[in-house]
Amino acid sequence: MRALVVGSEGQLGRELVSVLADDVVWAGDRAEIDVTDAGAVASLVDGVSPDVIFNATAYNKVDQAEAEPEVALEVNALAPRWLALAARERGALLVHFSTDYVFDGRASRPYQEEDCPRPLGAYGVSKLTGEQLVMAAGGEHLVIRTSGVLGRGGSEQKGGSFADRILARAREGKPLRVVADQTFAPTCAVDLAVASVALVGTDARGLVHVTNAGSCSWHELATATLARAGIDVAVEAIGAAELALPARRPAYSVLDTSRYRALGLPALRPWREALADCVPLRVGGD
Ligand SMILES: NC(=O)c1ccc[n+]([C@@H]2O[C@H](COP(=O)([O-])OP(=O)(O)OC[C@H]3O[C@@H](n4cnc5c(N)ncnc54)[C@H](OP(=O)(O)O)[C@@H]3O)[C@@H](O)[C@H]2O)c1
Repeated sequence: MRALVVGSEGQLGRELVSVLADDVVWAGDRAEIDVTDAGAVASLVDGVSPDVIFNATAYNKVDQAEAEPEVALEVNALAPRWLALAARERGALLVHFSTDYVFDGRASRPYQEEDCPRPLGAYGVSKLTGEQLVMAAGGEHLVIRTSGVLGRGGSEQKGGSFADRILARAREGKPLRVVADQTFAPTCAVDLAVASVALVGTDARGLVHVTNAGSCSWHELATATLARAGIDVAVEAIGAAELALPARRPAYSVLDTSRYRALGLPALRPWREALADCVPLRVGGD
């Protein structure tokens, strides 16, 4: 396949470029292309003539989105539309990524693709709008919803992945107070990249949920991360309400991955196993 990757310096983008290897005909990040520029997107896709476009760009600052919803909408909703329209014009498949934060967290079982989304904040609204605009553009598309992405190097927008930030705080001797009443499935960026590329080779199109197996709270993830790095410090379990963050988040956002698993593709590992590929063995990295 001839693959074009935008957002190639993000957690997922880096892994997509690595998994796609020689299939990458063009890869770039914000310095090479601003995906909110419809004309630039159309020219890029015209010039490269890809079979598949992977959109790994995102505005991921969940709290800041409450103060600048228009910026979140430009990157997470309008840009996917420009990519979807350009893909449709050239007969290419668009692979776009979305989030568990499109749900309100009131469910008591994992969310299926058909479940009605109801985002709680501006970030979720922008991602849901992006999904809908990609679907409405009328071209061939895969919209892959995932959750709690952990990548080597982490998301620069967020100051590293959650694991990076926990390890940094532990290294600095800062107290660790982590939310214990939000449940989701952590997802290793490299596993997500492998699954996404595999999905392209199937007949599956439309909406598909992909996460690592199992689920946990941020507190459990922090504890497992520190154990993995061999750091023995206490982590205080707190309720989300104690942080009083600007954006509300779903209390429960585990995604049901039955549709992906029914395709006969290799199952994603349990998140604890995957953590080994996302967390350095010692503080400071190895
Ligand atoms: N991170 C999570 O926990 C999580 C959870 C659920 C779903 N997801 C979804 O998974 C996908 C991948 O997320 P990720 O964690 O890999 O994101 P990430 O690490 O934050 O990477 C996003 C990349 O997009 C780039 N970008 C942002 N705006 C751009 C623009 N206007 N033009 C070009 N590039 C731009 C960023 O560059 P800058 O660094 O310069 O901004 C960054 O390199 C996204 O769709 C995200 O919404 C993520």
